[in-house]
Amino acid sequence: MEKPDYHIFVCCSFRGTEAKGKCLRKESPNLIPYLQEELVDRGLNAMVASSGCLNRCDDGPAMVIYPQGIWYGNINGEAEVDEILDALEEGVVAEKYLIT
Ligand code: FES
Repeated sequence: MEKPDYHIFVCCSFRGTEAKGKCLRKESPNLIPYLQEELVDRGLNAMVASSGCLNRCDDGPAMVIYPQGIWYGNINGEAEVDEILDALEEGVVAEKYLIT
């Protein structure tokens, strides 16, 4: 497998073996298939993974993109994902969703 240029972690609210946080209640897992489709469509070499609670629950749904270490919050749907991926392609950050 080719090493990805980016690794995107989407909070799915796991604490231990249970998923029970705000991001899950705001349907964060639904972001993952859309992200995966968009990454393919855009030709971005990136991997998406669900993560445990990122401890930014009040800003959820939250995600973090490495290797840049960019933390985003309030990712409520496809429009927000589009803006974030647009920024990633342009080599900038989507300031509107930054939570750090
Ligand atoms: S549940 Fe997502 S940051 Fe805590």
